[in-house]
Amino acid sequence: MPEVNGKDEVKILAFLCNWCSYAGADLAGVSRLQYPPNVLDIRVMCTGTISPYHVIKAFQMGIDGVLIAGCHIGDCHYIKGNYMTYKRFQVMRDVLEFICIDEDRFRLEWVSASEGEKFADVVKGFTEQVEKAGPSPLRSGWEKDPAQWERIRNAFKPLEPV
Ligand code: FES
Repeated sequence: MPEVNGKDEVKILAFLCNWCSYAGADLAGVSRLQYPPNVLDIRVMCTGTISPYHVIKAFQMGIDGVLIAGCHIGDCHYIKGNYMTYKRFQVMRDVLEFICIDEDRFRLEWVSASEGEKFADVVKGFTEQVEKAGPSPLRSGWEKDPAQWERIRNAFKPLEPV
């Protein structure tokens, strides 16, 4: 894992809904908006496909913070996906707290395809928050292996649209 100012750089996994937030991230990139590069994007068809298993797995694999970003309430392409996500988020936060993962490491945001600036701000703000929290207590040291990030990408590949 790269070091920044002598400290380990935090690593964030972002589950982004294909229809809104992934397009918002794309817009941020095309608009050349600056945001921290330590985010691994996983494109999913809908935030409703993210289960507590995926979030816990990300932390188990050495991730320091998990962001879920999807369509605004009422805009989900699958009607109820983000309602389910909203409900699950509350439960997942409690489960994470139970395994000593602070709520500052887990965030849910609604970002539309036209909100590139919001996406950049969300990533900046969340990265700062996770940096304050420091490395995850579940880090075991093996996440320093550069190949780990590829393993993480591969672990979540089944969620990505083909
Ligand atoms: Fe975007 Fe469901 S399609 S949250």
